[in-house]
Amino acid sequence: MTPFSSKTLYVHTIGCQMNVYDGEQIARGLAPLGYRLADSLKSADLIVVNTCAIREKAEQKVFSFLGRLAGLKENNPDLIIAVGGCVAQQEGERILSRAPYVDIVFGTRSIDRLPGLLESVAATGRRQVAVAMDGDAFLTPRPPENETRVSGFVTIMQGCDNHCTYCVVPSVRGPETSKPPADILAEVEALTAAGVREVTLLGQNVNSYGRKEGLCAFPELLRMLNDLPGLDRIRFTTSHPKDLSDGLIAAFRDLPKLCNHIHLPIQSGSDRILKRMNRKYTRAVYLDRIDRLRAACPEIAVTSDFIVGFPGETDADFQETLSIIETVGYDSLFAFQYSDRPAAPAARFSDKVPDPVKAARLQQLLDLQKRITLAKHRSLVGRVETVLVDGPAKKQTTGDPDSVPAAAWSGRTAGNKIVNFTLTSHWKPEDVRPGRLIPVRIDAAFPHSLRGRPVDRGLRPSDAKGEKSHAA
Ligand code: SAH
Ligand code: SF4
Ligand code: F3S
Repeated sequence: MTPFSSKTLYVHTIGCQMNVYDGEQIARGLAPLGYRLADSLKSADLIVVNTCAIREKAEQKVFSFLGRLAGLKENNPDLIIAVGGCVAQQEGERILSRAPYVDIVFGTRSIDRLPGLLESVAATGRRQVAVAMDGDAFLTPRPPENETRVSGFVTIMQGCDNHCTYCVVPSVRGPETSKPPADILAEVEALTAAGVREVTLLGQNVNSYGRKEGLCAFPELLRMLNDLPGLDRIRFTTSHPKDLSDGLIAAFRDLPKLCNHIHLPIQSGSDRILKRMNRKYTRAVYLDRIDRLRAACPEIAVTSDFIVGFPGETDADFQETLSIIETVGYDSLFAFQYSDRPAAPAARFSDKVPDPVKAARLQQLLDLQKRITLAKHRSLVGRVETVLVDGPAKKQTTGDPDSVPAAAWSGRTAGNKIVNFTLTSHWKPEDVRPGRLIPVRIDAAFPHSLRGRPVDRGLRPSDAKGEKSHAA
């Protein structure tokens, strides 16, 4: 038995899906030391805060969460607090001066060192900081235990070499590094063995997967995963438009398990701003890639990220952004007000856009997208979509209180839209449960979700793998 036996752990994750993946791996990595998940923050013996530095607000969230922990530590001096992730990497020792009750700071390439750091704290009573960038880019993957989810994440790349001028990621996650295909396949197989049906492959720019190391290209990796039995759906994020290859476009046409959805962040519709952002593509190149994607896979859902109020963005630039949103007709998007990151070059650019202008532009952009999303949702009414059931419908997750009757199920289409549905008499309750693919006829559209009924005839669950056919 270790000195840590029967202790409890609470992992609090802020940030992107990569952090969610890291958080899962942290919990699994600490299980051999006797840590099991705590029921609440208050009851934990060890709290791990997994942090994000992408915008100032995310960083503020980290320090306000740490502030909440001060009182817990006062009541329980044995509580261990460890701070990891991108803010830990960025701030290092400075975290200890801002939050003196923190015991461990560990960086994005030191996650595997956490068990050793805990032992050092126990042995010496001294605080530990490990933020060297020379650690392993990838964690030793731990197979899931008691997996109950239908979807899982697998990080296939770490870091980024692109140096977009607004972005902190290259400095906090280090240079781009790809995980070997055999390791990825083994991880996905472990997930499917535990009941996961859908994987999302994670990287900052999956289109350059394997290039530096001379591993296989990304479409090749997708083909290998497509051949894995037990896996029904493959998703990935994020794709950088400059590296979107014809091979990947063809994969959307050819691979039945690859979901017809691409997240292709453009950031701005203005060539002048794209240049200042160092994105290395133009509006015309981006639109050409969208055309080619749609020619190969007419049903493809396209989503994106936007930054409004980047330094020097004029009203005319912003109009270009609104116009590209109309032209592409995104299924949905994420939009952010530009936020200075001290480690990123744009922090030193002049002609910053005032906050109220940024806020007004963001609102205008979101209002426009709201109309487009609803129109997209309405265009699906009457069609049959294959839905991967992920659990009972929840009002709070759909945002459409009227759309969720009692005892409804919820799942996602291949295009990543939430569908809530109730069973018709033709369906036995045992045929519908998390992990099943069910053909659902869409009969109502809402801003954040769709509502439908499983089709009575035709496809049965076991045949419902035609992810790319949407015949009504
Ligand atoms: N690698 C991905 C992006 C990861 S960060 C890509 O290249 O698309 C996720 C999103 O956060 C970015 O797409 C961008 O829209 C936003 N973002 C990044 N840095 C930002 C900043 N300094 N201010 C505001 N938004 C930012
Ligand atoms: Fe940041 Fe650009 Fe890299 Fe994305 S591609 S992580 S936005 S530097
Ligand atoms: Fe945030 Fe780090 Fe992800 S900065 S967005 S948690 S890579």
